[in-house]
Amino acid sequence: MSTLRQELQATIDALVQEGKGLLAADESGPTIAKRFKTVGIESTEENRRQWRSLLLGAPGLGEFVSGVILYEETLGQKADDGELLPRLAERQGIVPGIKVDKGKIPLVNAAGDEITQGLDGLAERLEHYKEQGARFAKWRAVYNVSDTLPSRLAIETNAESLACYAAICQEAGVVPIVEPEVLIDGDHSIERCAEVTEAVLHEVFHALHRHGVALELMLLKPSMVLPGKEHAKQASIDEVASSTVRVLGRTVPPVVAGVFFLSGGQTPEQATAHLDAINRTGRRPWPLSFSYARALQEPPLKAWRGQSANVGEARQALLKRARLNGAAARGRYDA
Ligand code: 13P
Repeated sequence: MSTLRQELQATIDALVQEGKGLLAADESGPTIAKRFKTVGIESTEENRRQWRSLLLGAPGLGEFVSGVILYEETLGQKADDGELLPRLAERQGIVPGIKVDKGKIPLVNAAGDEITQGLDGLAERLEHYKEQGARFAKWRAVYNVSDTLPSRLAIETNAESLACYAAICQEAGVVPIVEPEVLIDGDHSIERCAEVTEAVLHEVFHALHRHGVALELMLLKPSMVLPGKEHAKQASIDEVASSTVRVLGRTVPPVVAGVFFLSGGQTPEQATAHLDAINRTGRRPWPLSFSYARALQEPPLKAWRGQSANVGEARQALLKRARLNGAAARGRYDA
């Protein structure tokens, strides 16, 4: 095996561990400001440093979390004792990773569709992130859903960018997480979500193949198959699980190293219950786990509220969700 493949495989082995998932703590400036605002915290660099130190320093987090996705700023920040945050993660047995896309913009000539930017200069940025300790990366493409969205153009263009990104990462010895998110916003049915997710994933794997991406050395971070949050009829836990597993089975090649779901606006309890049900549907070719941001961070953020006196309580709230999701990744969550 080449040294590059060995490097990628070692990262995959560290990330894909039974009963463990990923913590997404890679909110961009505007997104973290939105999350902080819900509990009345101002998004200053110091507050972001404190928050992310709180998360990464939760004692024993590495028992349920194998990797953390960070935002660029965090790679250079330090905990109160002066330890760099990526080092703190490593010391907890958690592999540091980095969000590398530069966010979404409207796709021109496709009203309602969006495209993710950030490919220019990516190879150079990855070298720098690697020096700072990042061993894997994430790129998120988003798909708005309606009767007519996403368009073929959006499906094809986003697949192409995801595949370009993944190929550049592997070339740099960085494991790519490929994240196509079919959004929960809207009033579409679960059937419509299934149809869109199948078309999206099909196109993504077609593009990954064209770009020569080694599927056994990447991870997929998909959304679950859910009805739109404004849809009149919400789905049962088992319906979500069976629809999600059916769509993945039709589109995701068995060699893919792991499937780590995003939470996408589900409540923390829903995200755990759905992951558990998905893992109870029987034997699957890939490990199915979590890569949650909101579903892991909401309870600790509410407990913290920017007060140092609440750090202990906030860490307990994070550990609780991490432990329950770890159980769900084994299909052993007891609600
Ligand atoms: P949520 O779990 O909050 O959807 O976030 C996951 C993520 O990484 C979004 O890019």
